[in-house]
Amino acid sequence: MKIREVTEIALMTAVIIVLGLIPPIPLGFIPVPIVLQNLGVMIAGVVLGPKRGSISVGLFLLLALIGFPVLSGGQAGPVVFAGSTGGYLIGWLLTPALIGSTVSLKFMTHFWQKLLCTWIGAVLVVDVIGSLWLAVSTGMPLLSALVSNIVFIPGDTLKAVVACLVAQRVRVPGIKQI
Ligand code: BTN
Repeated sequence: MKIREVTEIALMTAVIIVLGLIPPIPLGFIPVPIVLQNLGVMIAGVVLGPKRGSISVGLFLLLALIGFPVLSGGQAGPVVFAGSTGGYLIGWLLTPALIGSTVSLKFMTHFWQKLLCTWIGAVLVVDVIGSLWLAVSTGMPLLSALVSNIVFIPGDTLKAVVACLVAQRVRVPGIKQI
């Protein structure tokens, strides 16, 4: 791996960490807050592609797992991964691979197609995995967990738009630009 690629990965991890400094917004009805950190995860996938994006998100999650307070609200440690938001964190690990491998397909030429890939990989998949684990970890009925996650859709859709707009402006060698 070239020094430039290592730098891109490190910078992306730093961006995700910085987005975690913005305080999470708690919701009274589920133990999952609104956060801005998933915007960074989306940008990692759409800008850096599946490999470099996954490494940057993986590095961020590893730091969180071993105890660095890099998650929104300064959280860290295995207890967070086992808790009510653990499913979203696992979803974040899959996001760059899902987004990066689909947006780069030859027929993905329009902005809306790339936005759709980003939305499916970073909003739909993450919220479904998050809901499944939320139900398992809290004992909440699965349907209630899924329905309650609808609250995240408008904000997460906006984040997907922002991530695709950022990708339009940032040129990364080896990655097809939107
Ligand atoms: C954590 O910091 O423990 C993870 C928080 C996960 C929050 C999820 S990500 C998808 C959805 N959109 C949000 O804004 N919040 C939830």
